[in-house]
Amino acid sequence: MSFRILKYRTEGAMIFIIMAFLLSSCSDVDWDESSNNPYVEFKVPDGFPNAVYDFPQNEVSRSRFELGRKLFYDPILSKDNTISCGSCHQQSGAFSHIDHSVSHGINGLLGTRNSPVIFNMAWHTNFFWDGGVTHLEFQPLNPIQNPVEMDETVANVVNKLSIHSEYPDLFKEAYGSDSITSQYMLKAMAQFMALMVSSNSKYDKYIRGESGGNFTSAELNGLQVFRQKCETCHKEPLFTDLSFRNNGIDSIFNDIGRALITLDPNDEGKFKVPSLRNVTVSFPYMHNGSVKTLADVIDHYNSGVLPSATLDPILNNGIPISQQEKLDLLAFLSTLTDYEFLNDSRFAEQ
Ligand code: HEC
Ligand code: HEC
Repeated sequence: MSFRILKYRTEGAMIFIIMAFLLSSCSDVDWDESSNNPYVEFKVPDGFPNAVYDFPQNEVSRSRFELGRKLFYDPILSKDNTISCGSCHQQSGAFSHIDHSVSHGINGLLGTRNSPVIFNMAWHTNFFWDGGVTHLEFQPLNPIQNPVEMDETVANVVNKLSIHSEYPDLFKEAYGSDSITSQYMLKAMAQFMALMVSSNSKYDKYIRGESGGNFTSAELNGLQVFRQKCETCHKEPLFTDLSFRNNGIDSIFNDIGRALITLDPNDEGKFKVPSLRNVTVSFPYMHNGSVKTLADVIDHYNSGVLPSATLDPILNNGIPISQQEKLDLLAFLSTLTDYEFLNDSRFAEQ
């Protein structure tokens, strides 16, 4: 299969071509109930560091995972029952909000930040662009209560779930509890998200020496360039070092990022380094969605880095990238797309 025509352009109509391609070429994974292969389990992929999410205190089970999935896709979590987590976190965009520079919530209200991808969350210690939440189980509280996202109260969500025709039984099955509590609701959603692991891209197959992992010479060169020029911050295998940095998107900050949390002026304009896995499908880019294509991202590092007091010192003079290196980098970045993850029926709305 060749992705060559998809590589260098991501605008407008390309979304539909990519989606049509995904739908037509990949069939859903079927889970054989009779085999020893469990429907869900958590395994650290070869070469990955240990995860930080504490699975033992929220032991993985199919009923918990499925409850989390149902909640994730259920607009009952919003005030007027119109917006679900999945509205802004769409699987075909690696659980980002496809083609939206900033998120779009209840009553069409706009947020100020780009909806990030959700996968490999079990390795993250800080959530949101500014790291304002430090546990995956507290994370859903924010969008549920945010007036421009779901604008609901947690108590009211619990009420709605408690009188629902299906949820009381599902909570009972998953957590053995007769009453629905916010704690179990948050645990179920955290389990669903923590089990979203993306580790089967062409890059992963190349690293593991598996079939389907033969890099072209452009992809190989791109990997070299990447390791010289991008790796410090977008560290393999997660493609983020999970730190907060300023990569020169703004000189004057509309959004001071990490400093909102730490109140330290040295953190102004710093944002969580995003993973570059599945980056071909998660456009537009950056915390404010201001960069439209991957080619534009590379041009930014080459010639568009804006100076400020907190700019990462690595970027003081930008990153010189030749035209050939740019093409090779683009080829490499598209090897990070994990079609198995993007089409995994377990993570889809049922
Ligand atoms: C209206 C759109 C919208 C809705 C609805 C929404 N999110 Fe988000 N989500 C965002 C945006 C925007 C951010 C980044 C916020 C920030 O950095 O301040 C985000 C961040 C996140 C993150 C952090 C990812 C990371 O790498 O740090 C997770 C996890 C997440 N959302 C899960 C959820 C869950 C679970 C729900 C449902 C309870 C939900 N979201 C509902 C837009 C949305
Ligand atoms: C000094 C650290 C650093 C280096 C070096 C760096 N990046 Fe980044 N990168 C970041 C940060 C921080 C962000 C998020 C900035 C924001 O949202 O404002 C980012 C964002 C991105 C994004 C957007 C991803 C998304 O989901 O929005 C892409 C793509 C990207 N970088 C690619 C690269 C490439 C390719 C290189 C090498 C040429 C590179 N980066 C080098 C720190 C770095």
